[in-house]
Amino acid sequence: MQIEGSVALVTGANRGIGHAIALALLENGATKVYAAVRRPETVTDPRLTPVKLDVTNPDDIAKAAELAQDVTIVVNNAGMSGVEAQLLNGPLSVAREVMETNVFGPWEVARAFAPTLSRNGGGALVNVLSVASWWTSGTMPGYAASKAAAWSLTNALRVGLPQTLVVGVHSGFVDTEFSAAVTAPKITAEDLAAQTVKALLEDRTEVLADRFTTDTRAALSGAIEDVLAVRPY
Ligand SMILES: NC(=O)c1ccc[n+]([C@@H]2O[C@H](COP(=O)([O-])OP(=O)(O)OC[C@H]3O[C@@H](n4cnc5c(N)ncnc54)[C@H](OP(=O)(O)O)[C@@H]3O)[C@@H](O)[C@H]2O)c1
Repeated sequence: MQIEGSVALVTGANRGIGHAIALALLENGATKVYAAVRRPETVTDPRLTPVKLDVTNPDDIAKAAELAQDVTIVVNNAGMSGVEAQLLNGPLSVAREVMETNVFGPWEVARAFAPTLSRNGGGALVNVLSVASWWTSGTMPGYAASKAAAWSLTNALRVGLPQTLVVGVHSGFVDTEFSAAVTAPKITAEDLAAQTVKALLEDRTEVLADRFTTDTRAALSGAIEDVLAVRPY
């Protein structure tokens, strides 16, 4: 699809991957990028148009969809890890919050913006997922379950919105606050943003951003033990 002349809305665009994707869209000719964030005052970049949107708040989503009727690209990026909820201990309430943020939030955003995207010619819906859509460990079961569910939702959107280019972005660790405690190799948010924009320009529906992710994806047709044995490089 063409990014030149497009109007985008990116959730969680005040920092991290969302900010990098917002800038990459502008650099590729988007005329406006709405930064859809919980606290508009955290959008300090003057090139972005702040919009209040907590993805767990249906009223915020409805109001943003009412306001941003010119969008042609919607990026579901906002997310949380909820690592406090470990497999056998830690609060399950946090894992529930992760589901609200990483699954039901993007679902509600997709529902709210589907009519606008359709009216504007189809456009694109980008869901920022993870290698954790397919890979997991005892330290992030709730997060991985949310990204597996969000991947399934992405597939449903691929079927249910045939006019819209639905892109799933999968990667291992990315160097943001989100993964600050991780010592494994990371790619930069700018690298992931560039790969996402390239997929949009080439009408590709999937980004597999690093070797951890491509190896995991390739292992899916084999034994499940081989999937879980893949490690970050
Ligand atoms: N970093 C990684 O290693 C990695 C790897 C694969 C996939 N991802 C995915 O990439 C996406 C972005 O992660 P990141 O690394 O950029 O993380 P980050 O730096 O921690 O940023 C998270 C963003 O999500 C926003 N957010 C969280 N909950 C929200 C809510 N309820 N409503 C609206 N916005 C909310 C945050 O807003 P506030 O500023 O208001 O908190 C922030 O803008 C996530 O979906 C994550 O799962 C990350």
